[in-house]
Amino acid sequence: MTAVETDEAIHEGAGTVTRVLDPVAALAELAPIGRDEARGGWSRHLLDDADQKMREWFFNTAVSLGLDVEGDRNANQWAAWSPEGATGPAVGTGSHLDSVPGGGPLDGPLGVVSSLAAVSRLMDEGHRPTRPIRIANFAEEEGARFGVPCLGSQLLCGELAAERVGPLTDSAGVSASEVLREAGFDPQTIGADPSRLADLAMYVELHVEQGRQLAPLDAPVGLATGILAHGRWRVTITGRGDHAGATELDSRHDPMLVASSAIQAARARALLADPRTKARATVGKLQVVPGGSNAIASEVRLWLDARAEHDDEVRALVADVVADARKAARGEGCEIEVSEESFSTRVTFDVDLTDRLHAAISPHLGIVPRIPTGAGHDAGILAGYIPTAMLFVRNPDGVSHSPHEGASDDDIRAGVGALTDALRALTSPEHP
Ligand code: GLV
Ligand code: MN
Ligand code: MN
Repeated sequence: MTAVETDEAIHEGAGTVTRVLDPVAALAELAPIGRDEARGGWSRHLLDDADQKMREWFFNTAVSLGLDVEGDRNANQWAAWSPEGATGPAVGTGSHLDSVPGGGPLDGPLGVVSSLAAVSRLMDEGHRPTRPIRIANFAEEEGARFGVPCLGSQLLCGELAAERVGPLTDSAGVSASEVLREAGFDPQTIGADPSRLADLAMYVELHVEQGRQLAPLDAPVGLATGILAHGRWRVTITGRGDHAGATELDSRHDPMLVASSAIQAARARALLADPRTKARATVGKLQVVPGGSNAIASEVRLWLDARAEHDDEVRALVADVVADARKAARGEGCEIEVSEESFSTRVTFDVDLTDRLHAAISPHLGIVPRIPTGAGHDAGILAGYIPTAMLFVRNPDGVSHSPHEGASDDDIRAGVGALTDALRALTSPEHP
């Protein structure tokens, strides 16, 4: 017997036997999948072994709850509850099951698990939805394998040209086309899916809070107002590989020195920006070629992540960091090349939908703060196309993209309660 079966209560509801998924037990079932012994935490990347196991879990769990499950041509998975009387475009919910390298247990899985749990509760209580509810597991939200975040939702919405995706390569040089084909997808048919998008009337994503805004307000659940504009840039610095002992200091062309200037510039330029712009810039990934401790590097690749309130503020920040890096490259006699890998425009979530969620969830929760976030989400992509809102579950330390990310069991259950209240309200006759 699986942990899910062990921990599920079995109930009679609306004339059928339904099972209520306990979110804490379901997360415990996912915990062994994709453990990263080297980095700590979890590494689950698009269609790798761990991601495939997560997908199997999604499929099996959704089927065991009586949902219809299908995949789309962009590697997203969908579980639908569409009983008699549920008509028209659906209320979408869900999140993603992939992770950053060595990430935490909740960024992604909490939203998927909570959606399944909330729908199982609605089934159990005999709720008769006026619209179908569709639960998404979006592919490659973190962009950890191919560099482009929200790959599945961007393809679905036609935000990302399909031709751009196939040639993307992972760190082992394997192309996205090959990975998709190997997993049974046709790379020729990825891309905008207007009919599937038209099947969603709105989208509500629950996510673990990233940052620490709810704890000081003593609130287990919050609502999102918007997402900072953000993007990723690949910076390639080429120098001259040589011997660490035999090369005179004045004849070196060391790209590591330039990389170090770029990393310093990322912090310094973000600090110089007007604090109201919430500018932040990070270098979290570096590749050194050849990477020998007694060799001057020949090439360094680094990835700059930059974010700010508005699109033009992000672009100005990046221009400043790149100008500093170019200056350092000139001084060291190195070449530098910069390319934009992704850009996500600033998002404001739908105020009317957010108000409706507030009205639905506040009777059980009391204060429900509305908070902005600096983290990207599939909900941010969908917000450009349909009314979209987000719920955040309190993260006591605020830490995310790290194995130390967490939320208490009580707050996880409060989040599922809030999502259940939200989905019930959005699929009730008084909310057409
Ligand atoms: C996704 O979590 C991002 O903001 O990078
Ligand atoms: Mn994330
Ligand atoms: Mn996420």
